[in-house]
Amino acid sequence: MTTGEHIWNRELILVTGKGGVGKTTVAAALARAAQAEGRQVLLAEVTTEVAKTSPLLGLFGQPRPEGEAPVRLDSGLYGLRITPSSGHKLFLKDALHSGILANAAMRSSALNRFLLAAPAFPEIGTLYSLVSLLRQRRYDHIILDLPATGHALGLVSLPRTVLKVLPSSGLIGTAIQEGMDALTSKERTGAVLVTLPEAMPVQESIELEQGLNKLDVPVSAMVLNRMPKHAFSEAERIALDNHMRGRATEPLLGTREFRRLERALDARTRFRAQVPAGINRVEVPLWDTTSNVMEIMEHVGLVLGQANLQDHGAIEVAP
Ligand SMILES: Nc1ncnc2c1ncn2[C@@H]1O[C@H](COP(=O)(O)OP(=O)(O)OP(=O)(O)O)[C@@H](O)[C@H]1O
Ligand SMILES: [Mg+2]
Repeated sequence: MTTGEHIWNRELILVTGKGGVGKTTVAAALARAAQAEGRQVLLAEVTTEVAKTSPLLGLFGQPRPEGEAPVRLDSGLYGLRITPSSGHKLFLKDALHSGILANAAMRSSALNRFLLAAPAFPEIGTLYSLVSLLRQRRYDHIILDLPATGHALGLVSLPRTVLKVLPSSGLIGTAIQEGMDALTSKERTGAVLVTLPEAMPVQESIELEQGLNKLDVPVSAMVLNRMPKHAFSEAERIALDNHMRGRATEPLLGTREFRRLERALDARTRFRAQVPAGINRVEVPLWDTTSNVMEIMEHVGLVLGQANLQDHGAIEVAP
């Protein structure tokens, strides 16, 4: 059984993992849980310019937030989209001491193309937004819904590389250093890695944990999301397995589903064995997929809340 630090001790919570694993659901559920405890929460979706709507903020009825300021989603709960260019704009505003000039500069498509194409500049834009939010000290928690696995690593590694060639005293250098200090602070930050009960995703989440560890980003929890319920006992599973193997050539109804469940169990065994000690391990069952997203979110929040209320970090669902 793994034991980890309480995630609610962290100011910055980074939710990451592969595409489609449930990052947005987990980020939203964590935000709801923190809000219910009376905390001031900012829920931010880190995204590209191309995305016109926000699935995360859509869960709270605001799929198209206007402008760069956080929007109020509920009492004590604010939402925001962070794009690279919103960070660049903030930076220009700080550098030029003028929002009007910054807006004018950002309207230049040549400048925009340059900022988005130059290596590390998009990450620096995102980081600059994050640093500005942290500086405000308005929120007890800033929960980031990060796009894809590589992004979490890029957010820390690319700006760090830039810092090597940049004076750390300038406006950008200071901000990058501040962002790095926050992202790597054991007291302030915790990453939540979400994965699915399948061989490759589990393996990738273990590798992601190692990657973040190398970059000194503290990982608080690993979530195995959408764990299906196995309808059979251990003895029944073995009997069924033998029966199916003995009739490999005869099609048997349910074989495919049975194999899928078996693979999920294998993946879960690996997950349990490989999540390093000191990291909260949480297993969230697959919820009825005909339910609406709000219901799924609440359900996920319940499991996460349970994991947070208990002293030990591991919540396991019986097969
Ligand atoms: N435990 C669960 N049980 C059932 N459905 C779930 C569960 N968790 C998430 N889902 C559903 O799975 C789908 C994908 O979830 P979500 O959008 O949170 O993933 P994501 O990792 O944010 O995806 P993307 O990489 O596209 O941003 C959604 O329809 C969500 O409602
Ligand atoms: Mg998402």
